Amino acid sequence: MIYAANFKTNHTRKSTQSYIQALNEKLGAKKSEDKVYIFPPMTALDLYEGAFTVGTQNAYPAHNGAFTGEIGLEQLDEFDIKTILIGHSERREVLNESQDKVSQKFSFFKTQNFEIIYCIGEPLHIREQGFESVMHYLLAQLDGIDMHYEKLIVAYEPIWAIGTGRSATTDEILTTHSALKKVMHDIPLLYGGSVKPANIKEITDISGVDGVLVGSASLDVESFSQMVLS
Ligand code: 13P
Repeated sequence: MIYAANFKTNHTRKSTQSYIQALNEKLGAKKSEDKVYIFPPMTALDLYEGAFTVGTQNAYPAHNGAFTGEIGLEQLDEFDIKTILIGHSERREVLNESQDKVSQKFSFFKTQNFEIIYCIGEPLHIREQGFESVMHYLLAQLDGIDMHYEKLIVAYEPIWAIGTGRSATTDEILTTHSALKKVMHDIPLLYGGSVKPANIKEITDISGVDGVLVGSASLDVESFSQMVLS
């Protein structure tokens, strides 16, 4: 199983350091086949040591240059970061990243041999239109994405389940993951959206779920490690 923590715009450099220290103490009990990823805010990126991989929540697709407010490869290389989240719904919706931009970013980081956790997910009004609309929407978010890239992980995160406390139902996750798996071959597929200690087992037991991408419930190290060790 893959357990990934997306801190979003939470935690500081200092609190991330204490988090990682506490996490390391807990991860001794982790199953060796399980993989843990931490995506802290950019100001907390550093060379951390432990049984986890640190990735960046975002980066500009360039080595360096005149891209005010962004970081590029040069800044990631300093901390040996080789993992990135691309296509998160908050970047698509709040930061207006188009599918074109998202796929350009994907291509750049693929060329750089990054491990990419690529996020897709539909808004509520699409879910309400029925399953055909959902799949049409999700497949459009795979436009321009090389589904044969060996360092690709996909995360399905329905927007209506993110930060709402209401996860998708077992049946919704099962049917969506099964349909996605048909076009995804052997790519690991994560579920994200209100995953928490209370529902982790139920979600990771669903066929076609290879792991989870957790926001709110990953912010507290006790809660996140409880899920990893579940
Ligand atoms: P929540 O776990 O807070 O719903 O967030 C999910 C998410 O967006 C992870 O990337």
